[in-house]
Amino acid sequence: MSLLPLLLLLLVSSEHNTHAQTITQGATITAGTTNSSWTSPSGDFAFGFYRLSNGNFLVGIWFDKIPEKTLVWSANRDAPVPASSTLRLTTGTSAGHLILTSSDGNSTYLYQSTAASSGYMQDDGNFVLKNASPSVLWQTFDSPTDTLLPGQVLVAGRKLYSNKNGTVDYSTGNFMLEMQKDSNLVLSAYHFADPGYWVSNTININNVSLVFNRTNAFMYLKNTTDIILPLTEDVPKPTEDYYHRVTLNDHGNLQQHVYQKNNSQWKMVWRVITEPCTVNAICGVYGICSSPDNETVSCDCLPGYRPLDPNNIAKGCYPKSKPDRCIEKPSLTNFTVEVIDDADFPNAGFADLGRVTPTDEEGCRKALMDDCYCMAASFVNSTCYKKRMPILNARISRNSTNGYKALIKVPKQISDGGGILNGDHHGGKKSVSRGLLKAGLFTTAAFALLFAALAVYYHPVVRRFIRRPRRPSADVDAMLINLRAFTFEELHEATCGFTTRLGRGSFGMVYSGTLVIEDKQIEIAVKALKKIAAAERGEEEFEAELRAIGRTHHRNLVRLLGFCNEDKHRILVYELMKNGTLSNLLFKQGEKPSWEHRVEMALGIARGVLYLHEECETQIIHCDIKPQNVLLDKNYTAKISDFGLAKIMMKDQTRTNTNVRGTAGYMAPEWLKNAPVTTKVDVYSFGVMLLEILCCRRHIDPKRVEEETEEVDLVLTEWIADCIKSGKLNMVVEEDMEALNDFKRFERMAMVGLWCVHPDPPLRPSMKKVTQMLEGTIEVGIPPLLYPEMV
Ligand SMILES: *[C@@H]1O[C@H](CO)[C@@H](O)[C@H](O)[C@H]1NC(C)=O
Ligand SMILES: *[C@@H]1O[C@H](CO)[C@@H](O)[C@H](O)[C@H]1NC(C)=O
Ligand SMILES: *[C@@H]1O[C@H](CO)[C@@H](O)[C@H](O)[C@H]1NC(C)=O
Ligand SMILES: *[C@@H]1O[C@H](CO)[C@@H](O)[C@H](O)[C@H]1NC(C)=O
Ligand SMILES: *[C@@H]1O[C@H](CO)[C@@H](O)[C@H](O)[C@H]1NC(C)=O
Ligand SMILES: *[C@@H]1O[C@H](CO)[C@@H](O)[C@H](O)[C@H]1NC(C)=O
Ligand SMILES: *[C@@H]1O[C@H](CO)[C@@H](O)[C@H](O)[C@H]1NC(C)=O
Ligand SMILES: *[C@@H]1O[C@H](CO)[C@@H](O)[C@H](O)[C@H]1NC(C)=O
Ligand SMILES: *[C@@H]1O[C@H](CO)[C@@H](O)[C@H](O)[C@H]1NC(C)=O
Ligand SMILES: *[C@@H]1O[C@H](CO)[C@@H](O)[C@H](O)[C@H]1NC(C)=O
Ligand SMILES: *[C@@H]1O[C@H](CO)[C@@H](O)[C@H](O)[C@H]1NC(C)=O
Repeated sequence: MSLLPLLLLLLVSSEHNTHAQTITQGATITAGTTNSSWTSPSGDFAFGFYRLSNGNFLVGIWFDKIPEKTLVWSANRDAPVPASSTLRLTTGTSAGHLILTSSDGNSTYLYQSTAASSGYMQDDGNFVLKNASPSVLWQTFDSPTDTLLPGQVLVAGRKLYSNKNGTVDYSTGNFMLEMQKDSNLVLSAYHFADPGYWVSNTININNVSLVFNRTNAFMYLKNTTDIILPLTEDVPKPTEDYYHRVTLNDHGNLQQHVYQKNNSQWKMVWRVITEPCTVNAICGVYGICSSPDNETVSCDCLPGYRPLDPNNIAKGCYPKSKPDRCIEKPSLTNFTVEVIDDADFPNAGFADLGRVTPTDEEGCRKALMDDCYCMAASFVNSTCYKKRMPILNARISRNSTNGYKALIKVPKQISDGGGILNGDHHGGKKSVSRGLLKAGLFTTAAFALLFAALAVYYHPVVRRFIRRPRRPSADVDAMLINLRAFTFEELHEATCGFTTRLGRGSFGMVYSGTLVIEDKQIEIAVKALKKIAAAERGEEEFEAELRAIGRTHHRNLVRLLGFCNEDKHRILVYELMKNGTLSNLLFKQGEKPSWEHRVEMALGIARGVLYLHEECETQIIHCDIKPQNVLLDKNYTAKISDFGLAKIMMKDQTRTNTNVRGTAGYMAPEWLKNAPVTTKVDVYSFGVMLLEILCCRRHIDPKRVEEETEEVDLVLTEWIADCIKSGKLNMVVEEDMEALNDFKRFERMAMVGLWCVHPDPPLRPSMKKVTQMLEGTIEVGIPPLLYPEMV
């Protein structure tokens, strides 16, 4: 009686991948009909249309005999198709291709190469296409999604991507398992350019693959001859009485499961992560993870933050109130510091701001308050580790973070219910927030504003230069005036008593005005330097520096026309740039500058910086290159402004001075490490800005956050590096046909940007090289950032 099923089982398991049902050319299945899948001979697996809870379908492979119908592979996880869509092995002129035709008219080839004469859904869960020989042309085992089956091997370069949400959302999620070419197996939160929260450390061994052994259902890393690292510890016997799978789940854990065939449910037999909160970014930005039982994950927001999606806190959080600007003497009236016991921010190396040691908790609190870039700190063993945003990976654990204290800087709430939208954070942005509010995007608008605010968080040096369509103006170049010393009276008159304010920068206020020289009117921008800062310099020294700036002449630099150095007044006079800032041009709503114009601006700015570094009389390091400091003249030529000021305002440029250091996001990491300032700080900032120009996107982008994806591709540089690594750089400009049509150039320029943002200054190219690479006169190598082992 009991022998028959056993015999059948033996027969089936010994005959996998041989006598599978043949799918011949012309065979078609249709989503939502009775004929919507092809099953394997044993019936264990089916290939075809898999119905989602919303009524759409994935083309996939699933365990067909069990009630759960567990999905193990899919072809279109991010683009499900509606009912009546078809899948067909073609005949005729395009013979032997596998084509998915959506009922709304779109066709996608799942396989389109050498003609396949037949297909097989095998009993091991592999769907293969063969030619007449018959040899395998294509198989689903070679392009896994989130699951491996016995017999499947993950060779170097292959990856698994988690689902977004278990059996609810099968689209590509936040975590990746990669069998790297350097032989390391790595789990990472790849959106955040995460180097990995679990690494096999099998580097320096050749040709390692992840093997899921068909015979004993063990998983291990193996080179051509030996098992290098066993993973699975034990599986119930006999192996063939169970179904097996290894899945990278939506919490970033790689787990092996078994299912007793006749009557059971999936049971976990092995997992790589034993403490769930050690998975990076598991609770999103500004979230905090706890897992008292090591099984379930509980996400919360850090104090002062609230969830983006109250129904799914794991998507991350945003601040309840607007972050204050960097102020010189922050006080407890602007921030509070909250302390969480037994909590830490592990693996958040990219957010490190250095440490203070030895110190006590009070000292750590002070260090946090005194550094405006610092958003949080962890305190352990008399050492205070400072962190900047984005704050990821916060976790509470009575075990592994015992003795740690997490200190969180909480901006004081200005008022309840959206303090972030109250107050005039930076002048003209008020109307923007109202517009967004009207659109009913309260939460996303708040979050978007936060990031917009963070991007210009600290020193908005120059605000928009407002167009003044008053009187006809003369051409400045035609005037040929030399650097001129103005009296305060003259400038007072030219600016009508300093009434029209263009903006406020870290160096002082900017006003517009009109000069009359030889009967011609010249529109000017007048910058009144802050008294205290300017007073540090003697009068003669100040003028000497100014004359150096005045002698710079370059098409891509804003011309200094003159100055006033009378009594306590230190005023600079520039030609007025009519078309505002590059920042406004790139990031404003509506029409973007054309691709050709962007390329031209990028090249122009590069040449301007090169001139400052290498071609003018005395080397000038700008120290604050960013789109707000690039202005556009009446022909929309990009011109760098504010160069030379860092030097005037700073006694010794090789010494770090926190008042002059650059702007968050554009600032080279060595600023934060008190390392000497070299021309390479400008190269770094230029790199960030170059990528922004190429993509018309802020380095830290409010829009990406608004789009309600939890793939918050927060940081542009990291996102681009990720996209290049995964061969999907085109995603970055997917809506920009001009850039796509010039993709080789786009790619080359993006690579140059990545070279510029290397954390190690000596590895960044000089501006000369940058310019040559952008122009295409020298070869652009692969940026070191794209090699994980070199970071
Ligand atoms: C399903 O499609 C196959 C051809 O692909 C056909 O031979 C078979 O009759 C169809 N079955 C049903 C129930 O329509
Ligand atoms: C067809 O597919 C393309 C790309 O996959 C997509 O952009 C487009 O919206 C689709 N069209 C329809 C009608 O679904
Ligand atoms: C999946 O969705 C449910 C309901 O929306 C949510 O509670 C759960 O946290 C989600 N899981 C993940 C990993 O996002
Ligand atoms: C799987 O395990 C069996 C028995 O332990 C062994 O003989 C076989 O070589 C293994 N297969 C692979 C691909 O490692
Ligand atoms: C596989 O790795 C083992 C242990 O590191 C080593 O002894 C062996 O030579 C390697 N085999 C090959 C073919 O490289
Ligand atoms: C790596 O191993 C695979 C299979 O084990 C083999 O086909 C391939 O030739 C090997 N590659 C190298 C470089 O040794
Ligand atoms: C599954 O079937 C086998 C063989 O028929 C039997 O020995 C075993 O007890 C069954 N298991 C369950 C959980 O029913
Ligand atoms: C969680 O896992 C860690 C490490 O494996 C262990 O030390 C700790 O006791 C576990 N905690 C619980 C509640 O099981
Ligand atoms: C800090 O708080 C003080 C007192 O509440 C307030 O006057 C000041 O404007 C605040 N500073 C900033 C930059 O918000
Ligand atoms: C704290 O210091 C003790 C003694 O020096 C050391 O054993 C322990 O590992 C340190 N803990 C951390 C987290 O550095
Ligand atoms: C948790 O604590 C246990 C024993 O207390 C220790 O063996 C284990 O390594 C700890 N886990 C981590 C991740 O530190």
